[in-house]
Amino acid sequence: MSQVKITETLLRDAHQSLIATRMTADDMLPMLKAIDEVGFYSAEVWGGATFDACMRFLNEDPWERLRTIRQNMPNTKLQMLFRGQNMLGYRHYADDVVEYFIARSAANGIDILRVFDALNDIRNLATAIRASKKENVHLQAAMSYTISPVHDIEYFVKYAKQLENEGADSICIKDMAGLITPYVAYELVKELKNEVKIPIQLHTHYTSGMASMACLKAIEAGCDVIDTAMSPMALGTSHPATETMVAVLQGTEYDTGLSLEKLNEVRGYAVKLRDKYCAEGLLNQKLLGVDANTLLYQVPGGMLSNLVSQLKQAGKEDKLDEVLNEVPRVREDAGYPPLVTPTSQIVGTQAVYNVITGERYKMVTKEFKGLLRGEYGKTPVAPDPEFRKKIIGDAEPIDCRPADLIAPELQKLRDEFPQKYYEQEEDVLSLAQFPQVAADFFEKRSDNKHGVDSAHCDKKNLVHPM
Ligand code: CO
Repeated sequence: MSQVKITETLLRDAHQSLIATRMTADDMLPMLKAIDEVGFYSAEVWGGATFDACMRFLNEDPWERLRTIRQNMPNTKLQMLFRGQNMLGYRHYADDVVEYFIARSAANGIDILRVFDALNDIRNLATAIRASKKENVHLQAAMSYTISPVHDIEYFVKYAKQLENEGADSICIKDMAGLITPYVAYELVKELKNEVKIPIQLHTHYTSGMASMACLKAIEAGCDVIDTAMSPMALGTSHPATETMVAVLQGTEYDTGLSLEKLNEVRGYAVKLRDKYCAEGLLNQKLLGVDANTLLYQVPGGMLSNLVSQLKQAGKEDKLDEVLNEVPRVREDAGYPPLVTPTSQIVGTQAVYNVITGERYKMVTKEFKGLLRGEYGKTPVAPDPEFRKKIIGDAEPIDCRPADLIAPELQKLRDEFPQKYYEQEEDVLSLAQFPQVAADFFEKRSDNKHGVDSAHCDKKNLVHPM
């Protein structure tokens, strides 16, 4: 009997993927007890883009949200998504800051930390793995899944073995673009189960329409845990529906043991939320269908819409086909990085420049130079030295782990923290990651405390899905 376990993503990835991360703690609160009673293996509730969105758009303290969820869900393991040495921000942080962030996440209620690196450079995960062990947090190492001449089954099995040796407690296949086909999922999981001892989890998005089939084949190959989302916030750019997968497996050797009646109670709350998001114009119906472009261009849905909007700004909307053909060429030049934050933005923007200037690499972004220089770590294939020279000029390439070049910075961050904002020790971490956004949030938070009305909730700006 190999019972399959479920990670419910309603409170993190589902709303990040469908409504640009705008679910508030107030939206969540009424249903937390019902979710807790289902008996999920875990619930993904924090990290990814939620931290930024809390402060930027919802005027909410992300740490307070985590404590609220923890308090109302005492029986379910709480899980977060963490971008390795980037934490939840957009640059590399010193090891002492990463360690402190993980310590505070654990202290506020996180049980499972899912950590990934955009380039699958294991050196960018090492500190997070070590710190999680120290805090007794389950460390799930996620492999950014992509398709390229180097990203074959052998590549991922080799990477998984390295992650296991480094101390990971489980492995996640993180297919952010919904690219994994059911038969590849079967083959990959089968090989992983042969070669590594720790549990295997599949995280795949429904974007291309293949996700529930991929989950089923992965389960047949021995996959231990799958990510799903409650049906009102499932499918489209989100995940397979929880209730469907539970029903599909019922009465088989993979039976999840979860009750459809209990799930239906959660569904009741989630349906009301979906209706509210539709009424507010937050939920775009287009995101709920199948985007077959993904099958052809192999870029994440969020990246495609970014390319369209960049071309629109430049008044070159007619160049989309050229840009979509340029993306794989730029990706090859850069050494086949998987396309996920931040590499999806870096490769996408460079492809747009290459097309609209009419000459490849006539204009090169600072970030693309950084990628070629090694500022983000090692790309899956080393770029051609001549090409690299052309892009970075006389700048010194970085061969070491990028964070080795960053001196400890926690004390400095503490010393520089403006005392007027201080409410909790975690605030220093919020400010370190999102300096302007956190400062604005702290300002509003203290206004609120002093009775100034600053209720504010910006609902239209988009953040990148993961
Ligand atoms: Co995801």
